[in-house]
Amino acid sequence: MSLELELRDLAVGVAREAGELALRRRREGVHLAATKSSIADIVTEADREVEELIRGRLTAARPDDGFLGEESGAGSGTSGITWVVDPIDGTVNYAYGMPAYNVSIAAVRGAPVPESWEALAGAVHAPALGEIFTAARGHGAWVGETRLSVTSDTPAGALLATGFGYDPATHEGDLAAVRRAMSMARDLRRSGSAALDLAYVAAGRLDGYFERGLQPWDLAAGALLVHEAGGVVTRHDVGSARPLLIAAGPDVHASLLALLDQIRE
Ligand code: IPD
Repeated sequence: MSLELELRDLAVGVAREAGELALRRRREGVHLAATKSSIADIVTEADREVEELIRGRLTAARPDDGFLGEESGAGSGTSGITWVVDPIDGTVNYAYGMPAYNVSIAAVRGAPVPESWEALAGAVHAPALGEIFTAARGHGAWVGETRLSVTSDTPAGALLATGFGYDPATHEGDLAAVRRAMSMARDLRRSGSAALDLAYVAAGRLDGYFERGLQPWDLAAGALLVHEAGGVVTRHDVGSARPLLIAAGPDVHASLLALLDQIRE
């Protein structure tokens, strides 16, 4: 079995277990552990517990790999492979009892920054929705037995998704991006989960997705899903505090890029 498939199978097994833990804790009631950068940027006790479980399982299976997680930070390894993990992406949905949250786990080769790494495998598991999206580089993106493919035709306009930063000071810029993108949209969604937005682009449930200021763990697994489903994922303004991510099939990507190119902080 290739390294990519081995890593994918490990990511899927761990994501499944982590998803079940997140679901169980949600049913027991969510306790807010802290706010992070702003009042909207919450972290739950479950976030921390789920990341601990994921980190423990991955370290036991592959002790030489590095780790980069949303809650517990980074740990370097010697194998050249790093696990990039968001234990609960869509934390605000999770806290409010909305089902659009997921466990996102990716294995990447190279420095653990999106511009340098090569993503090898990923899993996005949405336990409350009963779906797990998986990808291995060169082996396609899948949900269950169904191979994923981005959309190519948007005669009635594109169904787009976006997200907003937690810091209120960034909202004006995000709204400016929305205003521009609406000219090519049939409608716009804001799910509250970047990894699911990317998975849905891969699955053809959305035609395109853009967001400024995503963190590496928000996009690592989802971007590989889109790539393996025939889509294009790019990051712009990478030197800025809020790089712009655009993910879509090639035509929608080109149109979105043309519209959003002028948007800055
Ligand atoms: C957030 C979600 C949200 C996106 C934010 C992310 P978190 O991740 O993916 O949809 O708009 O930019 O930070 O904080 O729930 O892991």
